[in-house]
Amino acid sequence: MSTPILDQDSQSQDAQSQASLDQAAQSRPATGEARTASPRHYLMCRPDHFTVTYRINPWMDPAIPTDTSVAVQQWQTLYDIYRSLGHEIELIDQIDGLPDMVYTANGGFVIDGVAYGAKFTHPQRQPEGPAFMEWFGEHNYQVVDPKNVNEGEGDFLLVGSRILAGTGFRSDSGSHAEIAALFGREVVTLTLVNPSFYHLDTAISVLDPLTDDVTANIAYLPSAFDAESRATLERLYPDAIIVSEEDGSILGLNSISDGYNVVIAARATGFEQQLRDRGYNPIGVDLSELLLGGGGVKCCTLELRA
Ligand code: ARG
Repeated sequence: MSTPILDQDSQSQDAQSQASLDQAAQSRPATGEARTASPRHYLMCRPDHFTVTYRINPWMDPAIPTDTSVAVQQWQTLYDIYRSLGHEIELIDQIDGLPDMVYTANGGFVIDGVAYGAKFTHPQRQPEGPAFMEWFGEHNYQVVDPKNVNEGEGDFLLVGSRILAGTGFRSDSGSHAEIAALFGREVVTLTLVNPSFYHLDTAISVLDPLTDDVTANIAYLPSAFDAESRATLERLYPDAIIVSEEDGSILGLNSISDGYNVVIAARATGFEQQLRDRGYNPIGVDLSELLLGGGGVKCCTLELRA
Protein backbone atom coordinates (compact mmCIF):
# COMPACT_ATOMS: atom_id res chain seq x y z
CA MET A 1 0.00 0.00 0.00
CA SER A 2 1.33 3.40 -0.91
CA THR A 3 -1.05 5.39 1.31
CA PRO A 4 0.81 6.85 4.28
CA ILE A 5 -0.11 5.74 7.76
CA LEU A 6 -1.96 8.55 9.49
CA ASP A 7 -0.84 9.59 12.92
CA GLN A 8 -3.93 10.66 14.86
CA ASP A 9 -1.95 13.07 17.04
CA SER A 10 -0.90 15.12 14.07
CA GLN A 11 -4.24 15.06 12.24
CA SER A 12 -5.72 18.43 11.37
CA GLN A 13 -8.73 19.62 13.36
CA ASP A 14 -10.28 20.99 10.21
CA ALA A 15 -13.55 19.14 9.59
CA GLN A 16 -13.11 18.87 5.85
CA SER A 17 -9.64 17.48 5.93
CA GLN A 18 -10.75 15.16 8.73
CA ALA A 19 -13.45 13.84 6.39
CA SER A 20 -10.94 13.23 3.66
CA LEU A 21 -8.60 11.59 6.13
CA ASP A 22 -11.46 9.27 7.02
CA GLN A 23 -11.61 8.29 3.38
CA ALA A 24 -7.94 7.41 3.40
CA ALA A 25 -6.97 3.81 3.20
CA GLN A 26 -5.30 3.62 6.58
CA SER A 27 -5.70 4.92 10.08
CA ARG A 28 -4.12 4.31 13.43
CA PRO A 29 -6.73 3.30 16.01
CA ALA A 30 -6.36 3.82 19.74
CA THR A 31 -5.20 0.22 20.12
CA GLY A 32 -2.14 1.03 18.04
CA GLU A 33 -3.03 -1.43 15.30
CA ALA A 34 -3.03 0.02 11.80
CA ARG A 35 -6.05 -0.79 9.66
CA THR A 36 -5.33 -1.36 6.02
CA ALA A 37 -7.88 -1.29 3.23
CA SER A 38 -7.27 -3.13 0.01
CA PRO A 39 -9.35 -3.31 -3.15
CA ARG A 40 -11.55 -6.39 -3.34
CA HIS A 41 -13.23 -8.26 -6.19
CA TYR A 42 -16.91 -9.09 -5.79
CA LEU A 43 -19.75 -10.79 -7.66
CA MET A 44 -23.14 -9.11 -7.35
CA CYS A 45 -26.58 -9.53 -8.94
CA ARG A 46 -28.87 -6.56 -9.58
CA PRO A 47 -32.28 -7.53 -8.12
CA ASP A 48 -34.24 -6.90 -11.34
CA HIS A 49 -36.64 -9.73 -10.44
CA PHE A 50 -36.62 -9.33 -6.67
CA THR A 51 -39.78 -10.34 -4.80
CA VAL A 52 -40.77 -12.63 -1.94
CA THR A 53 -42.99 -15.46 -3.18
CA TYR A 54 -42.01 -18.22 -0.73
CA ARG A 55 -40.81 -18.50 2.84
CA ILE A 56 -37.59 -20.36 3.58
CA ASN A 57 -36.43 -18.24 6.52
CA PRO A 58 -38.33 -16.34 9.24
CA TRP A 59 -37.66 -12.98 7.60
CA MET A 60 -39.67 -13.85 4.50
CA ASP A 61 -43.43 -13.36 4.34
CA PRO A 62 -45.03 -13.56 0.89
CA ALA A 63 -48.03 -11.61 2.30
CA ILE A 64 -45.86 -8.50 2.78
CA PRO A 65 -45.58 -6.55 -0.48
CA THR A 66 -42.14 -5.89 -1.94
CA ASP A 67 -41.08 -3.12 -4.29
CA THR A 68 -38.58 -4.27 -6.88
CA SER A 69 -37.62 -0.71 -7.85
CA VAL A 70 -36.78 0.14 -4.22
CA ALA A 71 -34.72 -3.06 -3.98
CA VAL A 72 -32.82 -2.05 -7.12
CA GLN A 73 -32.23 1.48 -5.80
CA GLN A 74 -30.93 0.24 -2.45
CA TRP A 75 -28.77 -2.37 -4.14
CA GLN A 76 -27.37 0.34 -6.45
CA THR A 77 -26.31 2.36 -3.41
CA LEU A 78 -24.36 -0.62 -2.13
CA TYR A 79 -22.79 -1.13 -5.56
CA ASP A 80 -21.81 2.56 -5.73
CA ILE A 81 -20.24 2.44 -2.26
CA TYR A 82 -18.08 -0.52 -3.28
CA ARG A 83 -17.03 1.27 -6.46
CA SER A 84 -16.16 4.42 -4.53
CA LEU A 85 -13.97 2.30 -2.25
CA GLY A 86 -12.10 1.05 -5.31
CA HIS A 87 -13.53 -2.47 -5.39
CA GLU A 88 -14.02 -4.31 -8.65
CA ILE A 89 -17.53 -5.69 -9.23
CA GLU A 90 -18.66 -8.45 -11.59
CA LEU A 91 -22.35 -8.90 -12.31
CA ILE A 92 -24.43 -12.00 -12.93
CA ASP A 93 -27.86 -11.47 -14.55
CA GLN A 94 -30.79 -12.35 -12.34
CA ILE A 95 -32.95 -15.11 -13.80
CA ASP A 96 -36.68 -14.38 -13.67
CA GLY A 97 -38.25 -16.81 -11.19
CA LEU A 98 -35.14 -16.96 -8.99
CA PRO A 99 -35.79 -13.96 -6.70
CA ASP A 100 -33.09 -14.93 -4.18
CA MET A 101 -30.30 -14.80 -6.76
CA VAL A 102 -29.55 -11.26 -5.54
CA TYR A 103 -27.94 -12.95 -2.51
CA THR A 104 -24.83 -13.92 -4.45
CA ALA A 105 -22.94 -14.89 -1.30
CA ASN A 106 -24.80 -18.18 -1.53
CA GLY A 107 -23.65 -18.86 -5.08
CA GLY A 108 -20.36 -20.54 -4.19
CA PHE A 109 -17.08 -20.21 -2.32
CA VAL A 110 -14.06 -18.98 -4.25
CA ILE A 111 -10.43 -19.20 -3.14
CA ASP A 112 -7.33 -19.08 -5.36
CA GLY A 113 -9.38 -19.14 -8.55
CA VAL A 114 -11.18 -22.33 -7.49
CA ALA A 115 -14.97 -21.98 -7.27
CA TYR A 116 -16.65 -24.59 -5.08
CA GLY A 117 -20.25 -24.62 -6.29
CA ALA A 118 -23.38 -24.32 -4.19
CA LYS A 119 -25.97 -27.04 -3.70
CA PHE A 120 -29.03 -25.41 -2.16
CA THR A 121 -31.14 -26.84 0.65
CA HIS A 122 -34.52 -25.62 -0.56
CA PRO A 123 -35.97 -26.57 -3.94
CA GLN A 124 -36.89 -22.93 -4.62
CA ARG A 125 -33.20 -22.01 -4.82
CA GLN A 126 -31.75 -25.20 -6.29
CA PRO A 127 -31.56 -23.92 -9.90
CA GLU A 128 -29.23 -21.16 -8.69
CA GLY A 129 -26.43 -23.67 -8.09
CA PRO A 130 -25.86 -24.54 -11.78
CA ALA A 131 -26.47 -20.90 -12.81
CA PHE A 132 -23.62 -19.67 -10.63
CA MET A 133 -21.35 -22.56 -11.66
CA GLU A 134 -21.96 -21.65 -15.29
CA TRP A 135 -20.95 -18.06 -14.55
CA PHE A 136 -17.76 -19.21 -12.78
CA GLY A 137 -16.87 -21.47 -15.70
CA GLU A 138 -17.38 -18.69 -18.23
CA HIS A 139 -15.14 -16.41 -16.19
CA ASN A 140 -12.21 -18.80 -16.02
CA TYR A 141 -12.64 -20.10 -12.51
CA GLN A 142 -11.94 -23.76 -11.92
CA VAL A 143 -15.41 -25.02 -11.00
CA VAL A 144 -15.84 -27.81 -8.47
CA ASP A 145 -19.26 -29.47 -8.51
CA PRO A 146 -20.19 -29.99 -4.82
CA LYS A 147 -21.19 -33.39 -3.47
CA ASN A 148 -22.81 -32.05 -0.31
CA VAL A 149 -25.55 -29.53 0.34
CA ASN A 150 -23.96 -26.14 0.95
CA GLU A 151 -24.89 -22.50 0.47
CA GLY A 152 -21.50 -21.07 -0.38
CA GLU A 153 -20.11 -18.05 1.37
CA GLY A 154 -23.37 -17.71 3.29
CA ASP A 155 -21.98 -20.51 5.47
CA PHE A 156 -18.24 -20.43 4.72
CA LEU A 157 -16.16 -17.51 5.91
CA LEU A 158 -12.44 -17.20 5.21
CA VAL A 159 -10.81 -15.64 8.27
CA GLY A 160 -7.11 -15.30 7.69
CA SER A 161 -6.05 -18.71 6.45
CA ARG A 162 -8.79 -20.53 8.36
CA ILE A 163 -12.31 -21.28 7.16
CA LEU A 164 -15.22 -20.95 9.59
CA ALA A 165 -18.05 -23.17 8.39
CA GLY A 166 -21.67 -22.99 9.52
CA THR A 167 -24.22 -25.77 9.79
CA GLY A 168 -27.56 -26.29 11.52
CA PHE A 169 -30.01 -24.87 8.98
CA ARG A 170 -28.55 -24.94 5.50
CA SER A 171 -25.07 -26.32 4.74
CA ASP A 172 -24.52 -29.98 5.57
CA SER A 173 -21.46 -30.67 7.72
CA GLY A 174 -20.33 -33.05 4.97
CA SER A 175 -19.55 -29.95 2.93
CA HIS A 176 -17.12 -28.84 5.65
CA ALA A 177 -15.00 -31.96 5.11
CA GLU A 178 -15.31 -31.43 1.38
CA ILE A 179 -13.91 -27.89 1.49
CA ALA A 180 -11.18 -28.87 3.97
CA ALA A 181 -9.91 -31.45 1.45
CA LEU A 182 -10.44 -29.16 -1.53
CA PHE A 183 -8.71 -26.07 -0.18
CA GLY A 184 -6.26 -27.80 2.20
CA ARG A 185 -7.12 -25.40 5.02
CA GLU A 186 -8.23 -25.69 8.61
CA VAL A 187 -12.04 -25.75 8.71
CA VAL A 188 -13.82 -25.03 11.98
CA THR A 189 -17.44 -26.20 12.20
CA LEU A 190 -19.86 -23.88 13.99
CA THR A 191 -23.47 -24.83 14.71
CA LEU A 192 -26.22 -22.24 14.36
CA VAL A 193 -29.28 -22.63 16.59
CA ASN A 194 -31.57 -19.64 15.94
CA PRO A 195 -33.63 -19.87 12.72
CA SER A 196 -33.38 -16.08 12.24
CA PHE A 197 -29.60 -16.54 11.88
CA TYR A 198 -29.73 -19.42 9.46
CA HIS A 199 -26.50 -18.66 7.58
CA LEU A 200 -23.12 -18.12 9.24
CA ASP A 201 -22.78 -14.70 7.61
CA THR A 202 -25.84 -13.49 9.55
CA ALA A 203 -24.05 -14.19 12.85
CA ILE A 204 -20.35 -13.49 12.14
CA SER A 205 -18.65 -10.62 10.38
CA VAL A 206 -15.06 -11.00 9.13
CA LEU A 207 -13.28 -7.74 9.86
CA ASP A 208 -9.77 -8.48 8.61
CA PRO A 209 -10.10 -10.39 5.36
CA LEU A 210 -6.63 -9.58 4.06
CA THR A 211 -4.25 -11.38 6.30
CA ASP A 212 -3.06 -14.96 6.52
CA ASP A 213 -2.93 -14.57 10.27
CA VAL A 214 -5.51 -16.90 11.84
CA THR A 215 -6.02 -14.38 14.65
CA ALA A 216 -7.60 -11.98 12.13
CA ASN A 217 -10.52 -10.47 13.93
CA ILE A 218 -14.25 -11.06 13.73
CA ALA A 219 -17.48 -9.74 15.25
CA TYR A 220 -20.26 -12.11 16.24
CA LEU A 221 -23.55 -12.71 18.01
CA PRO A 222 -22.99 -15.44 20.65
CA SER A 223 -26.67 -16.38 21.05
CA ALA A 224 -26.83 -17.54 17.44
CA PHE A 225 -24.56 -20.53 18.29
CA ASP A 226 -24.73 -23.66 20.39
CA ALA A 227 -22.63 -23.80 23.58
CA GLU A 228 -19.77 -25.74 22.01
CA SER A 229 -19.46 -23.32 19.11
CA ARG A 230 -19.57 -20.34 21.48
CA ALA A 231 -16.69 -21.87 23.45
CA THR A 232 -14.76 -22.41 20.21
CA LEU A 233 -15.27 -18.79 19.17
CA GLU A 234 -14.19 -17.51 22.59
CA ARG A 235 -11.04 -19.61 22.41
CA LEU A 236 -10.10 -18.72 18.83
CA TYR A 237 -11.12 -15.04 18.90
CA PRO A 238 -10.70 -13.63 22.41
CA ASP A 239 -10.59 -10.07 21.01
CA ALA A 240 -13.71 -10.39 18.88
CA ILE A 241 -16.34 -7.68 18.90
CA ILE A 242 -19.48 -9.04 20.58
CA VAL A 243 -22.50 -7.34 19.06
CA SER A 244 -25.77 -6.65 20.87
CA GLU A 245 -28.95 -8.63 20.26
CA GLU A 246 -30.44 -5.40 18.94
CA ASP A 247 -27.81 -4.96 16.21
CA GLY A 248 -27.75 -8.67 15.47
CA SER A 249 -31.51 -8.78 15.05
CA ILE A 250 -31.47 -6.43 12.05
CA LEU A 251 -28.68 -8.48 10.42
CA GLY A 252 -26.12 -5.86 11.44
CA LEU A 253 -23.39 -8.49 11.27
CA ASN A 254 -24.12 -9.18 7.64
CA SER A 255 -21.39 -6.79 6.59
CA ILE A 256 -18.37 -6.47 4.32
CA SER A 257 -14.94 -5.28 5.38
CA ASP A 258 -11.92 -4.45 3.24
CA GLY A 259 -9.75 -4.33 6.34
CA TYR A 260 -10.58 -0.71 7.14
CA ASN A 261 -13.92 0.27 5.59
CA VAL A 262 -16.77 -1.86 6.89
CA VAL A 263 -20.06 -1.59 5.01
CA ILE A 264 -22.84 -2.32 7.50
CA ALA A 265 -26.59 -1.92 7.97
CA ALA A 266 -27.16 1.76 8.77
CA ARG A 267 -29.46 0.84 11.65
CA ALA A 268 -26.71 -1.11 13.47
CA THR A 269 -25.58 1.96 15.42
CA GLY A 270 -24.07 0.06 18.34
CA PHE A 271 -21.94 -2.05 16.01
CA GLU A 272 -20.99 1.13 14.17
CA GLN A 273 -19.58 2.62 17.37
CA GLN A 274 -17.78 -0.61 18.28
CA LEU A 275 -16.12 -0.58 14.86
CA ARG A 276 -15.08 3.06 15.24
CA ASP A 277 -13.59 2.32 18.66
CA ARG A 278 -11.42 -0.36 17.02
CA GLY A 279 -10.20 1.95 14.28
CA TYR A 280 -12.40 0.71 11.45
CA ASN A 281 -14.40 3.04 9.24
CA PRO A 282 -18.05 1.88 9.28
CA ILE A 283 -20.21 2.94 6.33
CA GLY A 284 -23.97 2.51 6.84
CA VAL A 285 -26.31 1.49 4.05
CA ASP A 286 -30.08 0.92 4.05
CA LEU A 287 -31.07 -2.40 2.46
CA SER A 288 -34.47 -2.63 4.17
CA GLU A 289 -36.19 -3.97 1.04
CA LEU A 290 -33.67 -6.79 0.66
CA LEU A 291 -34.08 -7.57 4.35
CA LEU A 292 -37.62 -8.72 3.45
CA GLY A 293 -35.92 -11.69 1.82
CA GLY A 294 -33.72 -12.23 4.87
CA GLY A 295 -30.52 -10.79 3.48
CA GLY A 296 -28.23 -7.81 4.01
CA VAL A 297 -24.95 -6.36 2.79
CA LYS A 298 -22.88 -9.54 2.90
CA CYS A 299 -25.61 -11.70 1.38
CA CYS A 300 -25.53 -9.47 -1.71
CA THR A 301 -21.77 -9.87 -2.07
CA LEU A 302 -19.65 -12.87 -3.07
CA GLU A 303 -15.90 -12.46 -2.83
CA LEU A 304 -13.92 -13.57 -5.87
CA ARG A 305 -10.43 -14.53 -4.77
CA ALA A 306 -8.19 -14.99 -7.79
N1 ARG B 1 -33.96 -15.63 1.02
C1 ARG B 1 -32.62 -16.12 1.04
C2 ARG B 1 -32.58 -17.49 1.69
O1 ARG B 1 -33.28 -17.70 2.64
C3 ARG B 1 -31.72 -15.17 1.75
C4 ARG B 1 -30.29 -15.53 1.65
C5 ARG B 1 -29.38 -14.65 2.45
N2 ARG B 1 -28.02 -14.92 2.15
C6 ARG B 1 -27.02 -14.98 3.02
N3 ARG B 1 -25.80 -15.10 2.57
N4 ARG B 1 -27.23 -14.99 4.31
O2 ARG B 1 -31.89 -18.36 1.25
